[in-house]
Amino acid sequence: MAEQQGLPHLLIFPLPLQGPVNSMLKLAELLCLSGIYITFLVTDHVHSRLLRFTDIQTRFSRYPGRFRLDSISDGLPEDHPRLGHQLMEMFHAWETVTKPLFRRMMTSGDLGPDSRSPVTCIIADGILGFTIDVAKEIGVPVICIRTISPCCLWIFCCLPKLIQAGELRSQETDLDALVSSVPGMEGILRRRDLPTFCRPGNSADPMIQLFSRESQQISRANGLILNTFEDLEGPLLSHIRKLCPNLYTIGPLHLHLKTRLAAESISTASSASFRKEDKSCLAWLDKQEPKSVIYVSFGSLATASKDQIMEIWHGLVNSGKRFLWAIRGDSVAEHDCKGGIAAELRQGTAEKGCIVDWAPQEEVLAHDAVGAFLTHCGWNSILESICEGVPMICWPFFLDQHINGRFVEKVWNVGLDMKDVCDRRMVEKMVKHVMELMGCAERTAEMARRAVSRGGSSHGNLDRLVEDIRSKYLNGN
Ligand code: UDX
Repeated sequence: MAEQQGLPHLLIFPLPLQGPVNSMLKLAELLCLSGIYITFLVTDHVHSRLLRFTDIQTRFSRYPGRFRLDSISDGLPEDHPRLGHQLMEMFHAWETVTKPLFRRMMTSGDLGPDSRSPVTCIIADGILGFTIDVAKEIGVPVICIRTISPCCLWIFCCLPKLIQAGELRSQETDLDALVSSVPGMEGILRRRDLPTFCRPGNSADPMIQLFSRESQQISRANGLILNTFEDLEGPLLSHIRKLCPNLYTIGPLHLHLKTRLAAESISTASSASFRKEDKSCLAWLDKQEPKSVIYVSFGSLATASKDQIMEIWHGLVNSGKRFLWAIRGDSVAEHDCKGGIAAELRQGTAEKGCIVDWAPQEEVLAHDAVGAFLTHCGWNSILESICEGVPMICWPFFLDQHINGRFVEKVWNVGLDMKDVCDRRMVEKMVKHVMELMGCAERTAEMARRAVSRGGSSHGNLDRLVEDIRSKYLNGN
């Protein structure tokens, strides 16, 4: 990067997981497109994957001198699986290894105040609270981004209230009881919709403590970016604004980027996948009838038991619909099956479906043949489905996924939530009924398109963010 004294230099630091890196790389490109100079900081593990499986170098070469990819260690071995059930271990590594390295980098290293191109503003995943500490220490403005759903962020912010009201006690009994201490979710939120780490009812649980503590941090930031749009979650956003008034709702980020690139006649197909995408499934989709295929994927972190996978498979086969299943080699719990499940399913599936390890998901959801999505409810997956008007069947695993499934069914009416019941009859029933929600899904997709188009709320908020990075946040806070 050329010397940038006096010009904005933005550091973007995503949570080093697939979903957050996907959406924050889109944000990085949106900001490059607006002429901002960016250093995108990832862990060594993510760095090697991006170089190996994506076109990141060529993609950003169209913004000469405006993008630099940098990396930092997380101290974990390269072959550590970094799966969902290992989150606490990963948080520990980020706190003990990455934090001191980051601090050094920002105070005396390449990005520090005495470097040729000092960082003038930081955008970091808000769950990495240490980035706010370091930013405050060196007097650089910091904008948090939360890549989980805003409805879940709001629950995390309310965890102290839930504990105080005794609503985290005895979670395992009466999971249908309504929860009343999350303002804005009265009559919607049940115990079963809270993150699963709330279920044992132990308020001292390290996950509860971590997510509660880190979510309060947003009020220390100069602003908060959310990957959503006003029309989707207006009422909830007004609650979040009480904690962090300077809110930039600029999503859905992937659609926003697509729209702005199209306006500049720049091609859009690109990926941030940490795995090799198997594009052969697109050719298979080309041969299917419009809206006839159920796409199935449980994201990048979840692991299921072999029994659960088999119930879903039988439900899909019994429904008579065709299906495309992206099933990662490491997505079945190891003690249940030593990596052989995909081969087993592939054989039994040949007539009705197609199985791949990792799909080009955005392209799959945009394909005419796809009529519904059986999803784990990761926030990126939900937004990608919403934008294509594809109704969902929700089978959540952890974190924000349980509340996301509830909002999909109860608030947005764009899918069916089968959480806690993984049974072939339920899968079959839902597959048969989910397409009835197509009309509502299409209307929601139209709202998303409006939000990211000129004159829309997300479009305007991104322009405001760019302006703030260029002027308001240029000389400290
Ligand atoms: C989980 C969460 O539930 C999410 O909300 C949170 O922010 C991080 O942890 P993950 O399992 O990665 O995330 O799900 P999701 O947020 O949906 O992200 C997965 C991404 O991988 C999506 O952008 C999806 O398009 C992509 N993907 C998934 C593929 O490209 N191919 C696949 O086969 C599966």
